[in-house]
Amino acid sequence: MKKIRAVICGGSGYTGAELLRILNHAVEVEITAVTSEQSAGKQVTELFPHLHAYSSVCFEPLIKEALLDKGDVFFLALPHSASQAAVAFFHSHGKKVIDLSADYRLRDITTYERWYKTKHDFPDTLKHAVFGLPELYRSEIKNALLIANPGCYPTTAILALYPALRQKIITIDNIVIDSKSGVSGAGRKSEVAYSFCEVTDGFRAYGVALHRHTPEIEQELSVIAGAAVNVTFTPHLLPVARGMLSTVYAPLKDKATCLNDVHAIYADAYKDEPFVDVLPIGKYPDIRNVRGTNICQIGLAVSENGTLIIISAIDNLVKGASGQAVQNMNLMFGLDETAGLDLLPVVP
Ligand SMILES: NC(=O)c1ccc[n+]([C@@H]2O[C@H](COP(=O)([O-])OP(=O)(O)OC[C@H]3O[C@@H](n4cnc5c(N)ncnc54)[C@H](OP(=O)(O)O)[C@@H]3O)[C@@H](O)[C@H]2O)c1
Repeated sequence: MKKIRAVICGGSGYTGAELLRILNHAVEVEITAVTSEQSAGKQVTELFPHLHAYSSVCFEPLIKEALLDKGDVFFLALPHSASQAAVAFFHSHGKKVIDLSADYRLRDITTYERWYKTKHDFPDTLKHAVFGLPELYRSEIKNALLIANPGCYPTTAILALYPALRQKIITIDNIVIDSKSGVSGAGRKSEVAYSFCEVTDGFRAYGVALHRHTPEIEQELSVIAGAAVNVTFTPHLLPVARGMLSTVYAPLKDKATCLNDVHAIYADAYKDEPFVDVLPIGKYPDIRNVRGTNICQIGLAVSENGTLIIISAIDNLVKGASGQAVQNMNLMFGLDETAGLDLLPVVP
């Protein structure tokens, strides 16, 4: 079988490197180009010695016209706003595009421009974007040419709330999402706030009441609920390299709802999902148990005051980014959805 040719734009960043690691297991795929502006001309292994399978591959600059004929699928692992034009270019030439940035996730352009404080120059392309969360949009993804790969925090929050919202067992007011991310969530760029001494042994909130993933979470929860959902979302920075855990609190409509019933709803909602693991009652997720995998683990509890507590954990670089992107690629090309994706973590 002819291999799928994949181009990775932004291959010198954390999600780009993770795409390279994961796609090395994908036998149906060959990497035909990897871009970096700062490291153009350098070997991939010069930046990432662990990616020794790519010792003969060098970074090249992102020149859209030069890359066009090299790929059947284009992964854009660029910062938001840097992605807009490249996505629109490859999409307009009929290529399959998976954008890991936030540029095509928000359907309402005004919301995007307000939260990201930048203009969106490609409203026509935006109309074609499918939100790449397979657990919600699998059939649309199979037929899509443009995937807006979800953010990492939204992946934990939406998967945590989806079954409860769909079954309408919780109220849509007063949903609280308390999230923690490893430092790789901020990307590979060097900033003092994310350096070793600033992060190690510390634990702090950031982007309080301002984080840009808020409108993305609300957009998707509102679709599920069929009504406008507003959430309280606070992210925190964990002093670990990778991993993300969200604890979500949602008031139950019927305070007498028991944990067994909630658990049955979640187990049923995700029974056919290869990458969502609803833990037994009394067990709770740990980021180390999903490290390197495309799994989202979910644990459930009901408090005495009738609050549903949902805890979800992912690897921010895998189910939160590159693994989910490969899951989407598999669906777009009619491959086995799990191809190339790890189900078991490296522990300890
Ligand atoms: N990190 C996560 O956990 C995570 C999770 C979900 C989604 N995302 C999203 O995925 C995207 C990539 O994230 P990341 O963490 O991999 O970022 P990163 O480590 O900072 O890497 C960014 C990449 O984009 C390239 N780049 C930067 N500006 C560019 C420009 N103007 N033109 C062309 N290339 C440019 C960089 O190349 P140079 O070598 O030239 O600097 C680098 O390869 C972001 O939009 C991020 O929000 C990240």
